[in-house]
Amino acid sequence: MTYQVVCLPGDGIGPEVMNEGVRALRAVAEPLGLSFAFETIECGGQYYLANGKRHDWPDGSFEKCKAADIVLLGAVGWPSPDGVGPVLMSNGHMAGHSPVLGNRIKLDLYANVRPVKLYPGVMHRVHGEHGAVWKAGKVDMVIVRENTEGLYSPTGGILAPGDVKKVAIDTRVITREGSARVIRKAFEICRKRKRGAPADGKKRVTAIVKDNVLHGCRLFAEVFFEIGKEFPEIEKETAIVDAYTQWLVTKPEWYDVVVATNMFGDIITDLASVLQGGMGMAAGANVGDRHGMFEPIHGSAPKYTGKDQMNPIAMILAVKEGLSWLGEQKGDPKLHRAADCIEQAVAEHCAAGGPFTYDLAEKPEKAAKCSVVGASVSARAAKFASVRM
Ligand code: IPM
Ligand code: MG
Repeated sequence: MTYQVVCLPGDGIGPEVMNEGVRALRAVAEPLGLSFAFETIECGGQYYLANGKRHDWPDGSFEKCKAADIVLLGAVGWPSPDGVGPVLMSNGHMAGHSPVLGNRIKLDLYANVRPVKLYPGVMHRVHGEHGAVWKAGKVDMVIVRENTEGLYSPTGGILAPGDVKKVAIDTRVITREGSARVIRKAFEICRKRKRGAPADGKKRVTAIVKDNVLHGCRLFAEVFFEIGKEFPEIEKETAIVDAYTQWLVTKPEWYDVVVATNMFGDIITDLASVLQGGMGMAAGANVGDRHGMFEPIHGSAPKYTGKDQMNPIAMILAVKEGLSWLGEQKGDPKLHRAADCIEQAVAEHCAAGGPFTYDLAEKPEKAAKCSVVGASVSARAAKFASVRM
């Protein structure tokens, strides 16, 4: 059995981190006797600008993503000379297919699962400098973001006719069905997690809402408690989104699994990444019932293109997410093993003090290249994968 992988490296640093993700995948595949076939598709803002601003990728790309076993995404986004391109591009799902928002909606990847875990040896970034007290073991939650509706709904984006500069309306669509499926996914993830919340070991799902104001959030909260009845062993609570942002930073150990509507989830996961060492450590799994697309949650960082400087670990952890999701889909224990080897490799790499890229290096002069970090993690992953079980 050969698993088909579509790689969408995208713009900026996307291709650099993608190389390291693929390297880690290859490193575990061989010793475990797993076979993968890769197809790389050019896409993103540069493609869009270079191709008459019509499409984010070549015709047929969506169909290839649909046929793949997993899709890996680097990052998309490139500054447009007129400042309009990237806006249209990120709204590409309204016009047709596109790598990020298009795939999320058209492949029905309704849950965006973003683990927030601080590995021992990694400093959190609250102070934006080193010497910060690390709290590995106290930051270990999963944020599950609704990924197909809310403020990102394809029916949204109504501009007032005439003077579009005066009024712009984005419709936030929250449906019972759309909420139910992502909430159920969050509870299922919670059930499977071994340890529960770091603070007290309890299994807990927290729904992020603004139900004192927004109708959609009232519906979301109602559905949350309804679905919650199927999971009697799990503690349930809601948190109002603004208050939650302070608790996330001041008592992250309270949280086990968190579920949020689309835009809230987008915002809180960037904030949460600070607790896990920054965006360079934050991976996301866009998953539905049949398809999965895995990406670091960071952007394309155009300024850093080709410098081999950025942290590849988020991409490597995204590959790990992809392998464990595929393992579940296919019932193939080797895929789970491959995922575990990659995570063990990242954990060991961090505990050993790196080498780290500039974001995590103790001193700037100790900063390692992206490819050096990737090679080190991959070598460790290959070592774990070669151990006979
Ligand atoms: C993310 C990103 C995307 C989003 C952008 C690139 C459209 O910020 O994956 O979190 O808003 O979802
Ligand atoms: Mg985001």
